[in-house]
Formats: sequence, structure tokens, C-alpha cells
Amino acid sequence: MSGPIPTINSLALVMPGQGAITLLTMTDALGKVIATVQVQHVGLRVGNFARLYVADSYRQKGYGRALLGAADKLARHSGNEALSCIVPPSNLQAQAFYRRLGFAVVSVWEDGDLLLSRPVMKEAAPADLSLKP
Ligand SMILES: CC(C)(COP(=O)(O)OP(=O)(O)OC[C@H]1O[C@@H](n2cnc3c(N)ncnc32)[C@H](O)[C@@H]1OP(=O)(O)O)[C@@H](O)C(=O)NCCC(=O)NCCS
Repeated sequence: MSGPIPTINSLALVMPGQGAITLLTMTDALGKVIATVQVQHVGLRVGNFARLYVADSYRQKGYGRALLGAADKLARHSGNEALSCIVPPSNLQAQAFYRRLGFAVVSVWEDGDLLLSRPVMKEAAPADLSLKP
């Protein structure tokens, strides 16, 4: 991306039956939301994230990696040692993306959903926000 680096905003929510969830949104210079992810502490020192989404025209430019970098930092600051997510077996693109970011399959649910995980990063790399033109 050329131009200003997008902003990452954080909103803590308490969802009935789900406990505390932090919604991270990434906005462009005009305040338009271009990417989102939800992060949750699930216990056993594992932070889980869900609903990672980057708007179509912003894909393959580093935004997904940058937002996961922020999710990673949040999980680490909450005392987690690993970050995990669930991916349906049909979502091959997301699986390729997560593999590229160092996630590995740790288990397969009965319905075929994949549980992916990676250790949290030791420190947030400034490179997290290096976006492609
Ligand atoms: C999956 C998704 C979040 C990726 O976001 P993105 O911003 O395009 O990803 P990035 O540009 O940060 O890519 C990071 C790395 O993953 C790679 N990557 C991204 N999408 C990929 C794909 N579909 N196939 C293979 N590699 C991919 C990139 O090439 C990049 O690799 P690099 O380190 O060699 O440069 C985005 O495609 C999306 O929102 N998909 C629809 C929603 C979805 O499926 N979410 C996951 C729910 S489980």
C-alpha cells in the first residue's frame, strides 16, 4: 500500500456466554474499516482469534499479517503463549495464509474443522506493518 499506514483500533466487549472478546479493526486514512479480527482468551495460556477478514481490494498487501501481529501482541500481553484459530477444511486460501504465517494444524475436529496454532511472537516486529505497494 502506498500512503499512510492504516490504524488499528481495539474494542473490548463482553459477549453473553463467550466472555471477554476484543475486536480489532483496521481502518484506512479515511476511517473506512478494511480488516477485522476478534481475539479471545480461552485458557490454558492460549489466545484464540476468529473472524479474520480483509476487504477484497486490500488482500495480498500485508494487512492480514499486520492485523494478526496486533492480535498476537494482545494475546501475549494477556499472558498467552500460543495463538490459535479454527479453519474449515474447505477454506484452502486461509489455510495457505496461516501456513505462511507459521501456523500448524494441531488437531482436526469431528466435523473436519482444523485447529491451527503457533507460539506467540516474542516481541511485536515493526515489520508487521510493512505493507506491500
Ligand atoms: C485470509 C486473509 C485474511 C489473508 O489476508 P491478506 O491481507 O490478503 O494476507 P497478507 O497480504 O497479509 O498475506 C500474508 C502472507 O500470506 C500469503 N497469502 C495471503 N493469502 C494467501 C492465499 N490465498 N494463498 C497463499 N498465500 C496467501 C501472502 O502471499 C503473504 O505471504 P508473504 O509473506 O510471502 O508475502 C484474506 O484473504 C481474507 O480476508 N479472506 C477471506 C476471509 C477468510 O477466509 N478469513 C479466514 C477465516 S478462517
